[in-house]
Amino acid sequence: MSFFYPIALSTWDGEEIDAIQEVIRSDQFTMAGTVSRFEEKFADYHGRKFAVMVNSGSSANLIAIAAFCHHGSRKLNRGDEIIVPTLSWSTTYSPMHQYGLKFRFVDIDLLNLGLDTSQLAAALTPETRAIAGVSILGNPCALDEIRAFSNSHNLWFLEDNCESFDAELGGRKTGTFGDISTFSFFFSHQISTTEGGMLLMDDLELYHLSLALRAHGWTRDLPQSSPIFRRKETDFFEQYRFILPGYNVRPTEINAAIGLKQLDKLSTMTTARRKNLSLFESLFEEDSRFKIQKENGKSSSFCFPLILSDELNISRDEVLSALHDNGIEHRIITGGNILRNDVISFYDHFVVNGSAPNTDKVHDRGFFVGNQPRDLTPQIEKLYKVLNIACR
Ligand SMILES: Cc1ncc(COP(=O)(O)O)c(C=O)c1O
Repeated sequence: MSFFYPIALSTWDGEEIDAIQEVIRSDQFTMAGTVSRFEEKFADYHGRKFAVMVNSGSSANLIAIAAFCHHGSRKLNRGDEIIVPTLSWSTTYSPMHQYGLKFRFVDIDLLNLGLDTSQLAAALTPETRAIAGVSILGNPCALDEIRAFSNSHNLWFLEDNCESFDAELGGRKTGTFGDISTFSFFFSHQISTTEGGMLLMDDLELYHLSLALRAHGWTRDLPQSSPIFRRKETDFFEQYRFILPGYNVRPTEINAAIGLKQLDKLSTMTTARRKNLSLFESLFEEDSRFKIQKENGKSSSFCFPLILSDELNISRDEVLSALHDNGIEHRIITGGNILRNDVISFYDHFVVNGSAPNTDKVHDRGFFVGNQPRDLTPQIEKLYKVLNIACR
């Protein structure tokens, strides 16, 4: 089915296609100089020391948790606790589970849809060693407060920024708050390299761990001098020398070549997204039938989430079918409450304060529609008209 108002459309033009052709002509497809150039540019854009590109945002989260678990002096161990919000993508949580961490689930703030920081004190125990902050659909969560809390309690801070590249909080880009910050470049995200992801960090040891873990756990991508290994005398061993239980989650040169072009267009694309956001806010902000995300800082507006007021005498299904009938594509917000997804049965977890009523609201009464870096005035106006009639 083709939609009048789809969730996402391609943001590529001839430049990305030419960049792909250039890689094809070069005959160098596997990770090499183009990936390094994209990493450098990406780190510079954020003013961070190190960037490691991988093949998805999920892989970025996997490498981040693995790096924390292999850190020499502050290693996360199986059984350690991590504080996480109840609203996020499945692969924020999967690596934490796979590395044996125990979850301390905290409800979200209904205004910005990120972790409710008023519950942090209750979430902390002597076993807590890490925290994850997730900025939902382009809107920064309380990253500054989470950073301060992590500093006070010596916690690793994983900033999952996969939905919120190019957002800002207090004049700082999101993706600059975590000990490791992760990004996704999947189709429909703020930039798209088809599949792709990135880690940013400032700590040299985390950087070298990430480089080794990304590619087989080997030493080949590490410089002569490293905090995580000492080079043997002969190069013969160094070609295939394995020091960590690693993966192969490398990107290709094609992904990076596209990424370089997309990064050049980012500020124009964010401006266009934010312009659509202004229109969306002007229509919905004062309408008490709908709750929309309140910007915390400057959103990079991935999509537009809406939560139907409890007072409305209409089921969400009826509203969604009106959207469907009018060609407006929609989805559940970031998978809804993770506590209510079947995967929860695998997790060793505890729910702080016993429940997550705000995330339940998102789960039961929420949905989102798309934002894209082009003028969506007719689409957003139609959205308002359709909802206005359906929710009369
Ligand atoms: C918060 C969050 N983390 C991680 C991911 C995983 O990214 P990817 O789809 O690139 O694996 C997503 C995907 O959209 C996400 O929304």
